[in-house]
Order: sequence, then C-alpha cells, then structure tokens
Amino acid sequence: MRKIVVTSGKGGVGKTTVTALLGRKLSLMGYGVVLVDGDVGLNNLDVVMGIEGKVVYDISDVLDGRCRLSQALVLDNESGVRVLPSSSRKLDVSPQAFRGVIDSINADFVLIDCPAGIDEGFHRAVSSANEAIVVTTPSASAIRDADKVRGLLSSYHLGDVSLVVNRVRYDMIRRGEMLTSKEIGNLLHLAVIGVVPEDDHVTVYQQLGRVPEFAVSEKSGDILAENVAKSTKNLVEPYMKRRWRWR
Ligand SMILES: Nc1ncnc2c1ncn2[C@@H]1O[C@H](COP(=O)(O)OP(=O)(O)O)[C@@H](O)[C@H]1O
Ligand SMILES: [Mg+2]
Repeated sequence: MRKIVVTSGKGGVGKTTVTALLGRKLSLMGYGVVLVDGDVGLNNLDVVMGIEGKVVYDISDVLDGRCRLSQALVLDNESGVRVLPSSSRKLDVSPQAFRGVIDSINADFVLIDCPAGIDEGFHRAVSSANEAIVVTTPSASAIRDADKVRGLLSSYHLGDVSLVVNRVRYDMIRRGEMLTSKEIGNLLHLAVIGVVPEDDHVTVYQQLGRVPEFAVSEKSGDILAENVAKSTKNLVEPYMKRRWRWR
C-alpha cells in the first residue's frame, strides 16, 4: 500500500484540492483509494469532496473504539474514492495512534491531506506516510515555505518526494511575470510530477461536484495520476500538450 502525504507548509496553496483531484483520478483508473483528512480540528476534505452530509463517524470515533474503520469511511459515489473524515474538534491524536489507523486501511493508495504549518499535525501526517508530494504555488512565499518543508522531510526517510505546482498562470509566464514550473522544480531540487493551472473549474467542482471533462484542471489531474501510478516524473504542462495536439 502506498501512503502519500500531500504537504506544503503554507496554507491555502492547494493541498486539499490536489489530494482530492489526485484521489479521484487514481480511483477512476481502477485503484482502491482512501483519502485521509490529516487536519484534526479543521476538517475540510469532506467539504471539498462534497460528502460532508454523509459523515457519521470520524477518525476520533475510530480511535476511541466507537466504530470500526469501515464504518467511518465515506464513499464518494461519483469516483469511488473513500474518505476518512477528520474530527471538527481539536483532539490530541498521537502520531502512533494516527499511524495505526492509516496502517489498518486496505487500499492501493492512501493520500493524507496534511494540515498547514510544520508543528505536530505536520509531524503526525508525515510520519504516517512513506512518500510525499509537496504542493506550491508560483508565489515567492509559497516557494520559500515549500523549501523549508522539503528540508524537514529529509529527516523522515521517505521513499520519494516530488512536487506539484498549483495555480499556474500561463499568461503571466508569457509576460515573464511568473516562474515556470520547471524553474520552480529546479529551485526546490524536486521533480515536478504535476502542474495545475489557475482554473475556475476547481471552484466549480468544489461547489457542484462535477466539471466538464475538458477543464484544464481535470487534464492536470490525469497527468499527475499517471505519474503517481507509474512512479514516473514526467513534467507535462497540460495547456501545452493540448495545444500541440491541435496543430
Ligand atoms: N488551480 C486552482 N485554480 C483555482 N482555484 C484554486 C486552485 N487550487 C486551489 N484553488 C482554491 O484555493 C483555495 C485553497 O485551496 P485548498 O486546496 O483548500 O488549499 P490548502 O488545502 O492548501 O489550504 C480553495 O478555495 C480552492 O478552491
Ligand atoms: Mg486544506
């Protein structure tokens, strides 16, 4: 079972968005996928996946023996992804207890949506994983935080660490106002396995639970999921790939 933590340091860069997108796409490829909300006390993966109305139990109920793990997992009918919701109450969950729950999951992929920051929530999520995906946006402050996180990850003996660049604006790159994903990967010394452009459809999906297949963020999700499934590190820009095909 591959256990991948999606982390960033900085909040609001797209960890939850990338976790949900990658999870959906891997599931649609036929893999068994469980998404774990690692943000104990500030749950939002259930909201982004549009399953918050179906949540009965959460990770704290599993830990306290009030339900079995299978009872707490919520199925997203559309994609087949199962979600382990986090508690909306701030609880003391030890890294060992959290890891125990993760290790009892039966799936091909467990994706752990890491909380923002680099304190105990970060440690709990990262120490339960054996691979990491760092998410950054092209902003200087997000890149700086991603660099800090990359340094911290090196003490965790993770098998693999790679990068997803989110909210890329090709119009700004063309004007020389934004770094390219390749440049960001070089700065951080990480292989870029996914590039997600700024796309209104990300918000549309989170509101309505569906988006047109042609949405560029969906294309990004397909490319990212293929890299993750095959453990490849191909940097493919979703826009450019489409444009090349049209010519
Ligand atoms: N590629 C994108 N295009 C447009 N909006 C995005 C994109 N990625 C994330 N967002 C928006 O940015 C906000 C923060 O994203 P989120 O995934 O919750 O970040 P984090 O989990 O790192 O705090 C959300 O409102 C989300 O809809
Ligand atoms: Mg989040």
